[in-house]
Amino acid sequence: MASRDSGKKIVGLAPDRHTSFYGRDIVSVKQFSPEDLAYILGVADEMRSLVKRVGATDLLKGYILANLFYEPSTRTSSSFQAAMQRLGGAVIAIHGVQYSSVSKGESLPDTIRTLECYADVIVLRHPEVGASEVAARYASKPIISAGDGIGEHPTQGLLDIYTILSELGTIDGLHVAMVGDLKHGRTVHSLARLLRLYDIRLTFVSPDVLRLPAEIKQEMLEAGRPVTETDRVEEIIGSADVVYVTRVQKERFADLREYEAVKDYYEITPKLMARAKDKMALMHPLPRVGEIHYDVDDDPRAAYFRQMENGMYIRMALLAAVLGKA
Ligand code: NCD
Repeated sequence: MASRDSGKKIVGLAPDRHTSFYGRDIVSVKQFSPEDLAYILGVADEMRSLVKRVGATDLLKGYILANLFYEPSTRTSSSFQAAMQRLGGAVIAIHGVQYSSVSKGESLPDTIRTLECYADVIVLRHPEVGASEVAARYASKPIISAGDGIGEHPTQGLLDIYTILSELGTIDGLHVAMVGDLKHGRTVHSLARLLRLYDIRLTFVSPDVLRLPAEIKQEMLEAGRPVTETDRVEEIIGSADVVYVTRVQKERFADLREYEAVKDYYEITPKLMARAKDKMALMHPLPRVGEIHYDVDDDPRAAYFRQMENGMYIRMALLAAVLGKA
């Protein structure tokens, strides 16, 4: 069975050997080398033991994070906020842009230029693909993407990798299945791209209309990772080491009838989990809207609540790293 919180070190790279994150934007996981990844995972591990031991530190005392969200969020926004506060920093939270000058017609570049007058780092969630790259072009302070439309969600991808490692102890050699809305799911796009750095086998499980974008599938194949596609979760449940389930992204459909046709396509139930491996991880970026039955929550293989806790450690690591304090 998956360990709950071993507290063990996952990656042994010494944080002070690597400082290339200072001042960098985090806009896509494509920018991460295996060394970058090992570094951030190592720092996240340090952050986890720090929080377990003493709760908080003053590493980022005097620093300010601007949390700018043009789309709804619970986990990402509050974990960034908690991460900054546990590191001793402060947060300017703009979570309802309708109450900011955005509603008066202010452009993204002007909003970014405003916030960087007051903050040292900006976290941005935006409905348009590429918005964080645009913001990064205008900003002199680091921009961290918290999700750009159906593009990417790099910090989620990192916390997903961290979760697989803490649940299963390794990534190489695993069979990873991703289930649900693979077309619009930005967390899937970032996680798949990170997984290509490992020796893994992937199965993409979705109805035809929600298939993974061809470009990302191509990237997997070019990296030499075997890829299978199916629409039946029953085909993978017995052999997958990781089952990563996602919500059908209602807000991305132009025609709601198309959403209605696929919204209840999958539900992971205790009966289905009875066919899964004893040692595996059931993951979900959350929020869930029916894809995983609540009766699965007590299954030790259900990793999604630990997964969201891990988000705070990864975000603490990223904030410290881009501010040169890791
Ligand atoms: C995801 C997102 O916003 O892309 N949520 C999250 O950040 N954990 C997934 C989703 O909304 O379905």
